[in-house]
Amino acid sequence: MQYELIATSTFGIEGILADELTEKGFKRLRTENGRVVFAADSDNLTETVARANMTLRTADRILVHVGTFEAHTFDQLFDGVKALPWEKWICRDGRFPVEGRSNKSDLFSVSDCQAITKKAIATRLSGAYGIDWLPESGPLFKVEVAVAKNMVTLTLDTSGAGLHKRGYRPEVSQAPIRETLAAAIIMCSKWNPKRPFMDPCCGSGTFPIEAAMMAANIAPGIYRDYDAEQWPCIDKAKWDEIRQELKDQIIEPEDLHIIGTDIDDSVVKRARNNANRAGVGQYIHFQRADLRDAKSRFSYGTIVCNPPYGERIGEQRDAELLYKRLGKVYATEFETWSCHVITPCDKFEKLFGKEASKKRKLFNGRIRCDLYQFFGPKLKRAPGPKVAPQDNMEKNVVTD
Ligand SMILES: C[S@@+](CC[C@H](N)C(=O)[O-])C[C@H]1O[C@@H](n2cnc3c(N)ncnc32)[C@H](O)[C@@H]1O
Repeated sequence: MQYELIATSTFGIEGILADELTEKGFKRLRTENGRVVFAADSDNLTETVARANMTLRTADRILVHVGTFEAHTFDQLFDGVKALPWEKWICRDGRFPVEGRSNKSDLFSVSDCQAITKKAIATRLSGAYGIDWLPESGPLFKVEVAVAKNMVTLTLDTSGAGLHKRGYRPEVSQAPIRETLAAAIIMCSKWNPKRPFMDPCCGSGTFPIEAAMMAANIAPGIYRDYDAEQWPCIDKAKWDEIRQELKDQIIEPEDLHIIGTDIDDSVVKRARNNANRAGVGQYIHFQRADLRDAKSRFSYGTIVCNPPYGERIGEQRDAELLYKRLGKVYATEFETWSCHVITPCDKFEKLFGKEASKKRKLFNGRIRCDLYQFFGPKLKRAPGPKVAPQDNMEKNVVTD
């Protein structure tokens, strides 16, 4: 028997998630808005669910697709939900809260859809287990009922907390980028760990940390728990086995040059703590520095940056000035590098002083942004020191 699993993502990065699924050997079925559907067979269901949760860097959650049907009335919704094999997943004492969404459908009252779905699942489970009262005191099975254009889709969430919660970032700066989006942007940048990497506005260190985790082959989700680990229908021992296998695959990369700088001393300290928690502190050079002083002794590297957006009144001019400075520094000090900046500013290219090689529409939380990508020249020689080491970037920044 084949099961359908759904990896959800931020709008705009479905293509990157689809590539990641294929590259990691998952059987991809189709890509839709904000999600990629992939398959698991009954003999590898636990393994597929566990691996998807622990290894995918750009997915937000992994859901089990329980069923889809058409419904225009609440009776149709009740019957459709009750007909699905919930007892295959939800155990006798399982807790099953229901979340809901509705878009362009006759069943537009989300709270009613939730209540009817809950009642239909309870009726089905009571019949299957031969009990009138379901204790709901055991493992958590989060159900979602999503109605779109009168088609109802029922899913169960295997992840629990969103997969961006890797566990290394309790200390955040202002406006941190989601770990999953940061990983997607690094993948878009085509960064190769043999080349240097820099984030000159690193905040809590998300980009450098995600880059270092990729280089060290640290699966993003090995240090956290998942709701489905507690599901009796999913083999718990297999999760532990896969977690250990992924830990054994961690490598110690040599000659890694990852730099994170920020003008704010306190956030640089937080970034260092976060990197240590993620197990990559030894691979990242964090330093307090103003972006306008950025330099590097290396060539053919990658800059990835989520600068301030200047959303509040009075901050926009500062943000625009910073974009101009970034453009100037890039043109004069980083001629061979590529640069990838996410911002909602539609004047960014004008301020930066260069037309982007590529623009990609993305959402950073609820903010609609563009990822402006400036690709550098093709590598002509092996990366290495461009000038004498004493001219290196570290000498040109304010140290703490
Ligand atoms: C949107 S936040 C970056 C968030 C970061 N990507 C993260 O995940 O935490 C922008 C950062 O730019 C820094 N910044 C502002 N002006 C700067 C400048 N002139 N030079 C360097 N960093 C600057 C801020 O201190 C802030 O941490």
